[in-house]
Amino acid sequence: MSDVHVVILAAGKGTRMKSARPKVLHEVAGRPMIEHVLAAASRLSPASITVVVGHQGEAVRGALAAHGHLEFVVQEPQLGTAHALLTTEPLLRDQSGSLVLLSGDVPALSASTLQQLAKIHRHAGAATTVVTSHVAEPHGYGRIVRDGGKIARIVEEKDASPAERAITEINAGIYAFELAGLFDAVRSIGAANAQREYYLPDLVSIHRQAGRVVETVTVDDAADILGINSRAELASVSRGLRQRKNAELMAAGVTIEDPATTFIDQDVEVGADTIIKPGVSLERGTRIGSDCVIHSGSRLVGSTLGDKAVILNHCVVSDSIVGAGASIGPFAHLRGDAHVGPRAKVGNFVELKKTVLGQGSKASHLSYLGDAVIGADVNIGAGTITCNYDGVRKQVTTIADGAFIGSHTQLIAPVTVGEGAYVGTGTTIRENVPPGALAVSAGKQRNIEGWVEQRKKRNTE
Ligand code: UD1
Ligand code: CA
Repeated sequence: MSDVHVVILAAGKGTRMKSARPKVLHEVAGRPMIEHVLAAASRLSPASITVVVGHQGEAVRGALAAHGHLEFVVQEPQLGTAHALLTTEPLLRDQSGSLVLLSGDVPALSASTLQQLAKIHRHAGAATTVVTSHVAEPHGYGRIVRDGGKIARIVEEKDASPAERAITEINAGIYAFELAGLFDAVRSIGAANAQREYYLPDLVSIHRQAGRVVETVTVDDAADILGINSRAELASVSRGLRQRKNAELMAAGVTIEDPATTFIDQDVEVGADTIIKPGVSLERGTRIGSDCVIHSGSRLVGSTLGDKAVILNHCVVSDSIVGAGASIGPFAHLRGDAHVGPRAKVGNFVELKKTVLGQGSKASHLSYLGDAVIGADVNIGAGTITCNYDGVRKQVTTIADGAFIGSHTQLIAPVTVGEGAYVGTGTTIRENVPPGALAVSAGKQRNIEGWVEQRKKRNTE
């Protein structure tokens, strides 16, 4: 068992977001920012993870309910970061080892930065190790004041002298602490400062004055440790995370024609030699095979694509599976557990919901296929509609292998079309069609000769 305990601070109000939603639940590159922090923290394999909540604590807790292994403590009122850490004392005071402290609003943090922090902290035998970075715009951050090269203290923007404000080395708000004696030291922090808050960074000068070792880890790329305090920072940190993901995929053999307009969530996988055109979004756990092409304007959410599948322009594919070599779109909508078989084709203005379209089958134009089980090598004519909902229940339409459904057909579920059967154009199918049969329901056509001429005469009389 690891002797690292993680604490994530997420009790603050996030005033500068001007939002009714807790700051840490705002999404960055497709998921709540605190989820990114949790993902990085888990890579340390910590003995425990404690989240300090306060402002809208119930909402934060609810959003993280799926993470079974988290501890929550409530900080009420919120009197500063040192006060926030003290709320974890009942849970952590009897633990040994180190405590890694993170902020819920620093989502770009990489697991490697955290691993480096833990390692340097251990090797130095430090009481506190602070993550720092040099930034061009230090405004708003605590500044690292050094003395003979060693960190002496951290001064907050609002308490800093003009000379201190000129310092460009900033406190990332990420620390490792030796647990032994930690809470006693934190308790000695006062609130005699511009914000009347208990500042956790004050621990640096307290430890230095007590003659204890305080180390720093300086990250080269400040993008890693940017905190989010406003909507503008939300957008820029999101952009940074997406760029990082796109770069990883390109390095692994994926062609991304225009990374600036390509939105790929962190947990998405894409196989080599797949080509992604501009303006594509790949979201929430989507898995794309190799050698696929995804054309502009398409959005895939929680979906899986087999190798060599093609998504043409402007499709929406959610919670669905597309088989190898299948072709979707343009302008198709697959949702709620649609399952398109290998080499099948879904054409323009076709919607599939909770429907299996078997291997090699085609629905090329203007159809709604809902709650249907369609076999292999079936042809679905233009304008075919499964009438799956009777106002009360959803019913299943079954179409067996090799069947041919003529254009403009309505299939009133529950109904089955047998293997190799043929449904004539414009048929309303209310009863099962046996295998190999032809089904027609339209009445016999009648032509009235000379009708147009007669009507003209009538209208001029
Ligand atoms: C803090 C640091 C600053 C550092 C910056 C890095 C302090 C006093 N300052 O400033 O040196 O450069 O982070 O991003 O620590 N929180 C609580 N309870 C509280 C107050 C805050 O849980 O009572 C949480 C917030 O929800 C947030 C984190 O602590 O997740 C940081 O608080 P925030 O107010 O954003 O601190 P900064 O002003 O950014
Ligand atoms: Ca902050």
